Amino acid sequence: MGSNKLSVRHLRAVTKCWLLSEIIRYFFMKLLHADAAAISRAADVLRQGRLVAFPTETVYGLGADAANPEAVAAIFKAKGRPADHPLIVHIGQLEQLQDWAKDIPECAYRLAERFWPGPLTLILNKRAAVSELLTGGQQTVGLRIPGHEVALQLLRAFSGGIAAPSANRFGRISPTCARHVAGELGERVDVILDGGACRIGLESTIIDLSGEQPVLLRPGAISRQQIEALLRTDLLLMPRTEIHAPGMLAVHYAPVTPAMLCAAERLQEMILQLTVEKQRKVGVLTCRYSLQECRNVRCIHLSDQADAYARSLYDAMRQLDALHLDSILIEQPPQTEAWQAVHDRLRKATVGVL
Ligand code: TXA
Ligand code: MG
Repeated sequence: MGSNKLSVRHLRAVTKCWLLSEIIRYFFMKLLHADAAAISRAADVLRQGRLVAFPTETVYGLGADAANPEAVAAIFKAKGRPADHPLIVHIGQLEQLQDWAKDIPECAYRLAERFWPGPLTLILNKRAAVSELLTGGQQTVGLRIPGHEVALQLLRAFSGGIAAPSANRFGRISPTCARHVAGELGERVDVILDGGACRIGLESTIIDLSGEQPVLLRPGAISRQQIEALLRTDLLLMPRTEIHAPGMLAVHYAPVTPAMLCAAERLQEMILQLTVEKQRKVGVLTCRYSLQECRNVRCIHLSDQADAYARSLYDAMRQLDALHLDSILIEQPPQTEAWQAVHDRLRKATVGVL
């Protein structure tokens, strides 16, 4: 009887909390389920020069009207992003490429026709009218048609280009679900369209086509080999010393807790060293190594398949970061082609290799 009462009371309290969080969600955070009405409202918000976070197949973007300099400036302010770091313009149709870029090489069309809508950004020479505020002072502009139904519907409803970096604070991990955006930028954005978890979970592949030879600026779900096969030429790789744009900074996409990469065979030894000898609290991300949870260790086991691992990686890092541990150890995934983009992000998220 007593326990029945307790469970009824408990149920009421849980329902109240849930109702309260839904009210906060809808009225204060502006987190909207991405149905037709919400998308149309979001397009209006963009037209007013305000900010809308929206899902893409890679990560969530923090969007603004790319043709409105004040709206673009609001993105930099909301993210705390330095002004010399260029934004990607999202477009809804291939024909819009010419609104932003000039001297478009034939290979750009070949890539766009094969991979758009999809996780590929092309860097092209910008048209004179495109604001340097948007391109971080560069004479080039980044463009992509995202492969996500909500993003495409928003682009159709808005009809212009939407400038959108990943919807996180500068230097932090990209958001892969609406909850991540709400937690990090909630009060700085006018609408967040909730379209569920992102299918890919890592940012788009970026190819610079503005020079003599195509350059791979950022690896992503579309691999270097896929692009080289289509273009029938080798891609130049960005030398790591040459800092060019935000994704190129040494530590980027990083959790707050210091993270280290660690070979699977050294993982157990390192955990013991940190937790027993140094009395540290450690988070561990593994993909092949199977680890028993023990005192002072929190472990998240991710898939040993590159695409499934990529999809969950940022959420796992956020979960471990939220525990305020002393350090995070990340098991080195396999060194094969399929893991290129994951290795790139892990290098940027970590402060070293053990
Ligand atoms: O998947 C993605 O690309 C996501 C979604 C939202 O589309 N966006 C994204 O944006 O990752 P952001 O700003 O976090 O990263 C954009 C990268 C920058 O790191 C920069 O290197 C590159 O795009 N970029 C943009 N315009 C460029 C330009 N004109 N020249 C060189 N790099 C450029
Ligand atoms: Mg970013």
